[in-house]
Amino acid sequence: MGQTQGQRKTFYVTTPIYYPSDKLHIGNAYCTVATDTIARYKRLRGYDVRFLTGTDEHGAKIEKVAREKGMSPKEYVDIIVEGILDLWRLMDISNDQFIRTTDSYHEEAVQRIFARLHDQGDIYKGEYEGWYCVPCESFWTKTQLTEDGMCPDCARGVEVTKEESYFFRLSKYRDKLVKHIEDNPGFIQPESRRNEMLNNFLKPGLEDLSVSRVSIDWGIRVPFDARHVIYVWVDALTNYATQLGFGVGEAAGAGELGAAEAYRKYWPADIHVVGKEIVRFHTIIWPAILLALGEPLPKCVFGHGWLTHEGQKMSKSRGNVVDPESLVAAFGVDAIRYFLLRDVTFGMDGDFSLKALVGRVNADLANDLGNLLSRTVAMAEKYFGGALPEEREAEAVDAELAELVGSLCGRVEESMDRLQFGNALAEIWRAISRTNKYIDETMPWVLARDSAKKARLATVLFNLLESLRIYAILVQPFITRAPVSIYEQIGLEPSELPGAWDSAKSWGAYPAGAKVAPGAIMFPRADYEKMAEAFRVPDAAGGAVDASGAGGAVDASGAGDASGADGAVDASGAGGAGA
Ligand code: MSP
Repeated sequence: MGQTQGQRKTFYVTTPIYYPSDKLHIGNAYCTVATDTIARYKRLRGYDVRFLTGTDEHGAKIEKVAREKGMSPKEYVDIIVEGILDLWRLMDISNDQFIRTTDSYHEEAVQRIFARLHDQGDIYKGEYEGWYCVPCESFWTKTQLTEDGMCPDCARGVEVTKEESYFFRLSKYRDKLVKHIEDNPGFIQPESRRNEMLNNFLKPGLEDLSVSRVSIDWGIRVPFDARHVIYVWVDALTNYATQLGFGVGEAAGAGELGAAEAYRKYWPADIHVVGKEIVRFHTIIWPAILLALGEPLPKCVFGHGWLTHEGQKMSKSRGNVVDPESLVAAFGVDAIRYFLLRDVTFGMDGDFSLKALVGRVNADLANDLGNLLSRTVAMAEKYFGGALPEEREAEAVDAELAELVGSLCGRVEESMDRLQFGNALAEIWRAISRTNKYIDETMPWVLARDSAKKARLATVLFNLLESLRIYAILVQPFITRAPVSIYEQIGLEPSELPGAWDSAKSWGAYPAGAKVAPGAIMFPRADYEKMAEAFRVPDAAGGAVDASGAGGAVDASGAGDASGADGAVDASGAGGAGA
């Protein structure tokens, strides 16, 4: 992974840049939380991480929405982007950078890149005749449309377009792309997406891609032909490089692409995390542009699945769009992050339901982890005034716990290195359950009645506190508040958490003299009936509901469509990359 800078390896990870056409929903948040988890994990493992997210602000869709609201596109996106920044703060997203494609450094860099591709003959002028889907910002040919003439991605109407256009010689790069994908099995993940790209898009052949529009205004102008606006996907995809300084600033002269230090240090990206419906843009168009520029390709594009709501695709018209802000307000950020990472297998589709969320919160968080913490610190406080005496007396049952928890970090790393967040969490919770069982087996309250058992009691509590220390360290990539809360309550210094990862590999490091400090309940239990009332859960038939209002517990009224593609779509079966 990454290059070596001194001793620290770099790791560059990105989310897609979101369309600020409306408030973001839980599906978008899922994508960002998953990426955040990777970034946090790599930091904890000592990597020099750069985590980029941002907003994709140009294009016909934004132009149209802003016009409907009576605002200029920039006025409109400025408001939405503020809300997105707030949402990421609320969800403890640890991005190092945030790019807006309206940032002037990006706009200039895109123009330089476009001009260079034109100068070297990879972009040429022609005429585009075909269909355009505004919500997906995708070009389609007639054969690619559905039988009733709709967009194959989102099933909505398409516009007939016939206009002068610049084209990118995508076809020229097909063979190189196929070879790259075949030679690098890790490039497109999961494997099913890789096969889909090869079989459905690349093998049938690629046509050149229309990369400019004269019929829209809101976008980056073609530098040598100002009637044309650069195709929004070309503008958007290059963000991953321009934000590192590629094509920006101190460029030596016209047509030259300056490569800033950050670009040299972090490029190529280690992982672009994207939703499954935009894998084709990231594994065909983006790599082809990079090949044309003679730049290295990202090491991995990971296509995650889609989140439905109670089994239904989320869309504004159904009124079932789930607003992450209200969820965080009701359940806390850890609960939402935990649910998304635990319940949805990364790479597969998943479902959000209030019932499943409440179930996870109560069973895994409140019961398993929360009770383990509160019982342990309460006993340490009650029996020893908070600090354990030094005498120990081990028994056979201790060894099994020490072995399971002491080796846990290795298993978590194994799962995380494969991006299997759910498995990593399942391993941690298996150990947490075992620790709770250890309490039942050792019955500290019985030991406490016999002063001759003091050393044994101290040993049991030590093992519990030590387990909690390790859990606090290992849950850090996933949930952000509990590690601090656990550390505080077991008497350790939370500021040591970021550097503590490797210490989870050695059982027994809970320090002598630490004093527990019982605190607030970490995860209050959630009441499903009350939450269902507050969130106005859709009826069993999945009928449309008013998810707005409801005591402010959830307000999906202003939330956007589930995506540009309005609902869960499978890009398979969709046609070529465009033009
Ligand atoms: N702007 C483009 C991406 C450009 S990247 C160079 C875009 N934006 S989007 O806002 O429509 O979608 C952003 C991400 O949110 C995509 O990865 C998409 O898959 C994800 N999701 C949108 N709805 C989703 C669900 N219901 N579930 C999970 N992720 C979903 O596409």
